[in-house]
Amino acid sequence: MIGRRRFLDVLASLYIYNEHRGYSSIDRVLEAVRRKCPDETEFIEAVEKHRRDERKHYLMFKRYFEKRGQMPFAVGRGCGHIDRLIGLTFRTTIDELDTDAVVASDAMFKKLCRIIILTEQRGQRQLDSLLLSPAALSDPMLIRIFEVIREDEPSHWQPYQYWLDKHGGGGASWAERAADWLVHQTLLLVKLPLMFFTPGLARRITWHDADDPE
Ligand SMILES: [Fe+2]
Ligand SMILES: [Fe+2]
Repeated sequence: MIGRRRFLDVLASLYIYNEHRGYSSIDRVLEAVRRKCPDETEFIEAVEKHRRDERKHYLMFKRYFEKRGQMPFAVGRGCGHIDRLIGLTFRTTIDELDTDAVVASDAMFKKLCRIIILTEQRGQRQLDSLLLSPAALSDPMLIRIFEVIREDEPSHWQPYQYWLDKHGGGGASWAERAADWLVHQTLLLVKLPLMFFTPGLARRITWHDADDPE
């Protein structure tokens, strides 16, 4: 079925983009955590593990595309869940997020933790539904990747939640939840179908990590 193959191709292209944005953004978070809580080694180690896992997820999708002999579709910043959520809640891009300000301000640091929790929990729920989807179930390699990610997901948001509970960070605000909902709906109901139906959609020429700092 051409439609199913195309859907999975678009889906995997969105995933690999988001996994790459995930681990590159965590580099900023890790820097903030190390400076803000230098004595909280367990928290720092959990964020380091989070970074390693997201990179592992990225590499699983990379192998998936390599095996299929095709590059992922080119996906823009507008399709990055964390990009758009940071944009809506901090009114800046991830790359321009001021690490010094985040370290200096408890309120900003707690907000960043809440945004990561929302993103990871969203990912977890999305995988629960994908793992029941007949289209995804028809691709054994993809389903195996989704199973691994689903298993890792709770360990990605729990350390931030634990830290917030310990430091009185509270739950996500109404506006943060609404932003998360909006980003997800737009991705699912606008961006994904748009890519699916765009004829001649360009594929990437290089891998996402080709420009990663060493
Ligand atoms: Fe991931
Ligand atoms: Fe994750």
